[in-house]
Amino acid sequence: MAKKVLITETILRDAHQSQAATRMRLDEMLPMLERLDDIGYYSLEGWGGATFDSCLRFLNEDPWERLRTLKKHIKKTPIQMLLRGQNLLGYKHYADDVVEKFVEASIRNGIGVIRVFDALNDERNLECAMKAINKYKGDYGAVCEATICYTTSPVHTNKYFVEKAKVLEQMGADNICLKDMANILLPYTAYELIKDMKKVLKPTTKIHLHTHNTTGTGDMVYLKAIEAGCDIVDCALSSMGNGTSQPATEPFIATLKGTEYDTGIDIEKLLPINEHFKKVAERLEKDGILNPKVRQIDVNTLIYQVPGGMLSNLMSQLKQAGKLDKLTDCLAEVPNVRKDAGYPPLVTPSSQIVGTQAVLNILQNERYKMVTKEFKALMKGEYGQLIGEPDVEILKKIGCEDRVTCRPADLIEPEYEKFKEEMKEYYTQEEDVLSYALFNQVAINFFKYRLAKDKKVDADLAKTQIYPV
Ligand code: CO
Repeated sequence: MAKKVLITETILRDAHQSQAATRMRLDEMLPMLERLDDIGYYSLEGWGGATFDSCLRFLNEDPWERLRTLKKHIKKTPIQMLLRGQNLLGYKHYADDVVEKFVEASIRNGIGVIRVFDALNDERNLECAMKAINKYKGDYGAVCEATICYTTSPVHTNKYFVEKAKVLEQMGADNICLKDMANILLPYTAYELIKDMKKVLKPTTKIHLHTHNTTGTGDMVYLKAIEAGCDIVDCALSSMGNGTSQPATEPFIATLKGTEYDTGIDIEKLLPINEHFKKVAERLEKDGILNPKVRQIDVNTLIYQVPGGMLSNLMSQLKQAGKLDKLTDCLAEVPNVRKDAGYPPLVTPSSQIVGTQAVLNILQNERYKMVTKEFKALMKGEYGQLIGEPDVEILKKIGCEDRVTCRPADLIEPEYEKFKEEMKEYYTQEEDVLSYALFNQVAINFFKYRLAKDKKVDADLAKTQIYPV
């Protein structure tokens, strides 16, 4: 039976987040939006992740205005976003009222697919966002895509992932995304895992696979996943594809052409679009934002099982301390710390927390003599439940015997009205409160810039653009 494979194009989000610190500007996207809309993609990932932060912090753009503009030009293809569960797009847990308002505003402003994940795969951190997506999606035909972060450990078995998928489906997921942020999922493992997931999920539930090509296995992972019944895969146009970004779109479409998995996408229609983004990539390279090295294969992750970004963090921490010779010891300590902490997946923020603790353990010559505030919070359960049990002796040593066992957000009082009160002098729309809730001072700085520009009250401030126009 012929089974058309669907493609999500990531050129507007993860591609430049992975290769160019999320610095692609809206004006660089605009000329190609109608063409991208005509390709026949399942979705265009274009918002969320780090785009929100980058808009406010570096590009002097209102992220909500960016979304509305994208929606104006992309009429047929759903715009997809990445949402970090109860953290939204920020770095801490928010109260439920803020989460619900954020989801509602995202859908109302044009988001068609919300991919929601939690770094620890604690579904309690997805609960509120998923409820909100399901509450508001009907009016706009949006899709709730719940995510499992893929990782390897003695407790992360196929059975664990399959059960997780089933739980998320029961919680109201339309799609299940398997998110392999570090490109450690291997082709034959992907085949087995997706076969097993397909067996328990409803036939209408789509499986969406996300990987990168950092270690060079990305295309093979997709191919085996498709043979196992995977419905949708994430690709990035070749101008910003491969390496730390997603496997490239065009070769993948060519690979499937004429087979039972044919995507139906006309590869020739992609050529002019890719030519445009090649120029954008050149601009980013010229500005020193895109380092061509990100396109090379890096097998370190396959060997050390630590994501590329985490390895470079470790190296820079050791370099600062003048202890680069301890790198091997630190790499060996990472799996130990991870075991002690109950095997968190290594994704932001847990990758940084575990990595920093491994460095401290080695440099102090004593394990857990010093711990970071974040490591303590992780061990206490403030980020969510850990799948393995944290080590009892270590909990005692670092003073974490009193642990959080409820859903972390149950401990947070409603906070939307408080945020609204704090930023009221800059209020122009409900979305401003949400920008402020997530990025406080960074949002205020943007509001000041916007005010100056609109009212022309401070010509100097209004001119403060990061890039020449
Ligand atoms: Co990614």
